[in-house]
Amino acid sequence: MSRIAYVNGRYVPHRAAQVHVEDRGYQFADGVYEVCEVRGGRLVDERRHMDRLTRSLSELRIAMPMPRNALGVVLRETVARNRVRDGIVYLQVSRGVARRDHAFPAAATRPSIVVTARNHDIDKLEQGAADGIAVISVPDNRWERVDIKSVGLLPNVLAKQAAREAGAKEAWFVDAKGFVTEGSSTNAWIVTRDGAVVTRPADFGILRGITRTVVLEIIAEQGLKLEERPFTMDEAYAAREAFITSATQFVTPVVRIDGKPVGNGAPGLTATALRRDFHRYAEVG
Ligand code: PDD
Repeated sequence: MSRIAYVNGRYVPHRAAQVHVEDRGYQFADGVYEVCEVRGGRLVDERRHMDRLTRSLSELRIAMPMPRNALGVVLRETVARNRVRDGIVYLQVSRGVARRDHAFPAAATRPSIVVTARNHDIDKLEQGAADGIAVISVPDNRWERVDIKSVGLLPNVLAKQAAREAGAKEAWFVDAKGFVTEGSSTNAWIVTRDGAVVTRPADFGILRGITRTVVLEIIAEQGLKLEERPFTMDEAYAAREAFITSATQFVTPVVRIDGKPVGNGAPGLTATALRRDFHRYAEVG
């Protein structure tokens, strides 16, 4: 079956989907994106993803390209046309096409919008969860506004590649004070020896992950001990468990950090239970 992409008002064959060479997303990374999970053909946590998109756009003073309801229709149509059952839908909005000039273009410039969708590689995902994954640490060299889900992801790209070259699946960014911020495309968590789940507060140092928000709700509802505070790499090495969260990985246990086994080196009970429970708590529309 051939894939279909939505580009600026049209559904086109994926292989022929194009944006203009002077699209500001392409030239300046002047745009934002969302990745929303699709489960059983339905969008997971659409409301929260739309809220975050609205916030990212407003922080960058880019107009919402169409009303929220219409955007929901486009997301669903793209999912349906690609026959995605369990996968992701990707949405990108840039400031639009204009003659290259760093400052904002004329106010009438229409934002560009692209939507694609594809199925997960389920076997690979499940294997990662069953075995647990390895992570490495890298210095956090990103700008201060990583709370905005911008398409400017070069440090994240380099960090993920460093992880891959080290035989790991994810890289955890460590800030100048020695605290873990987040992963290159996931939020970072540990469980201490006395059973407290620890994750960094979603201030300006990390992206406020939607999966993270849902996991915090599960933790509150189930009465697990939570410490929302920064943690160091030494705490991570000494942790009983570690895990990552994102729309593409849900909750995935971490079993090695910088080559050292976490806990007994097997996926932890807390991470495994949170992964099992996650979709009961997420909103499916
Ligand atoms: N990444 N932190 C970063 C830097 C991210 O890029 C992501 C998501 C997350 C987790 O957010 P959420 O739970 O809302 O997916 C945290 C997406 C999946 C990506 O770039 O592919």
